[in-house]
Amino acid sequence: MQLSYLCNSIIAMSENLIISKSTDKVSRYESLIPQIEALILGEPDLIANLANVTAALKQTFDFFWVGFYFVKNDELVLGPFQGPIACTRIQRGKGVCGTSWQRGETIIVEDVDEFPGHIACNLKSRSEIVVPAFKNGQIFLILDIDNERLNYFDKTDAEWLEKLMGIISNLS
Ligand code: SME
Repeated sequence: MQLSYLCNSIIAMSENLIISKSTDKVSRYESLIPQIEALILGEPDLIANLANVTAALKQTFDFFWVGFYFVKNDELVLGPFQGPIACTRIQRGKGVCGTSWQRGETIIVEDVDEFPGHIACNLKSRSEIVVPAFKNGQIFLILDIDNERLNYFDKTDAEWLEKLMGIISNLS
């Protein structure tokens, strides 16, 4: 009994992410998303799963900032993230995150300086993507990713990250 417990712990601790060596975004997402699905499948704790999702995205793409905001009452509240410290609360309709929540859609920002009302948690962030997750038709979670490069995010990121948010919604 003890040995099997120990073995399970060792297996869990040796969890390893295989990162595609390809520089092509699609190949990286194709390799990453099933691994994330396997990692969070069967683990009921949402915070633990989101923490691992942020780490996996950061490891794979080396994003400047990647994290989640939870919808709590009338505002967004910071959840698990990787990167520099960030704004704790965001009002509905404010910034890119609050606007994505209000519109109920993914927003790609090619240049954060061009987005009216963008909330600059860190001046190094130059482009951004925000993707909402739905449960029973309501947004309950927002994924926010920042890049130090202008114009980094495109339709490919939107499609794969929406797929990821769908997986998280179904498993939570
Ligand atoms: N830039 C975001 C705020 C969150 S930070 O980037 C982590 C926004 O405008 O909503």
